[in-house]
Amino acid sequence: MQAKIQEYLHEVASAAPLNAQEAEALRLRFLGRKGVMNDLFADFKTVAPDARKEVGQLLNQLKTAVEAKVSEFANAKPKVSIHAEDVTRPAWGNLPGTHHPVSQVRDELVDIFRRMGFAVAEGPEMEDDWHNFTALNFPPEHPARDMQDTFFLARNPDWALRTHTSNVQVRTMETRKPPIRIIAPGRVFRNEAISSRSHCMFHQVEGLYIDRNVSFADMKQTLLEFAQAFFGPHTAIRLRPSYFPFTEPSAEMDIWWGLETETDYRMTKGTGWLEILGCGMVDPAVLESCGINPEEYSGFAFGLGVERIAMQRFAIPDIRALFENDLRLLRNL
Ligand code: PHE
Repeated sequence: MQAKIQEYLHEVASAAPLNAQEAEALRLRFLGRKGVMNDLFADFKTVAPDARKEVGQLLNQLKTAVEAKVSEFANAKPKVSIHAEDVTRPAWGNLPGTHHPVSQVRDELVDIFRRMGFAVAEGPEMEDDWHNFTALNFPPEHPARDMQDTFFLARNPDWALRTHTSNVQVRTMETRKPPIRIIAPGRVFRNEAISSRSHCMFHQVEGLYIDRNVSFADMKQTLLEFAQAFFGPHTAIRLRPSYFPFTEPSAEMDIWWGLETETDYRMTKGTGWLEILGCGMVDPAVLESCGINPEEYSGFAFGLGVERIAMQRFAIPDIRALFENDLRLLRNL
């Protein structure tokens, strides 16, 4: 019996299937139901006990050799039958896509403000100095320009990647007459070291409201409405004094997040309040730069970062995860 197996081993070793059909024929000859292996296993019962170990090993060797020869065509097989032979077979279903967490949050923010009567406005991501800075009351050499870590264009440093979507404020005021009620979602760029908390590219949603007699109280009520629509009907807000060159007075808005768990403690730096957005009354100098009479009109503006809110909502601890497009993350959101 050993000699017979050796012969088969030679046969398999010199077999060289050229395509899936030949490989399949080889597989059937040896591993099929009426194949060589089955006959050999039947004969195995008659082998003397002291020879069993050796014969058993040879049988295994033969089986492995056949499988190795056949396996390189194993993956080719379904392709042949599905694509070449049965063109009437129903197609594979498509995996349904989902929206990226940044898009989900942006769309929800825009939707809330749209219901309050704000219209979406857009502007360029590559911007000149006037629309990104000067018209927004950042005079040349003003130290507040440093706060923005700007990417300037190498060819013409008068141009930069916009550092905020506030350029859309300027472009809208320059071309439209009040009342103005817009929301400007978009991508912005800052030359910052990339870490788990900051990125050189992120998204903002900025709002602008200009009309006669617009007051700080109007702003506060609008932002409260927004906070309760987005974070839940009982959300409390507070406004803290802050500074932006283009608003006066300026504030930062926090929501009451709670201080129950260790995560709450970490997220709110031990205060229970979570910073959500910057806001303020549009500085009269900005209205004037954009051709709107500050004696007649007033308004407020606010801006918030989309990634930060997406990270809170989806409990994503690292901002970089939002731009790596790892399907293991995206499929679970
Ligand atoms: N543009 C500001 C920033 O990027 C945010 C902001 C917008 C603040 C509007 C106040 C009013 O930091």
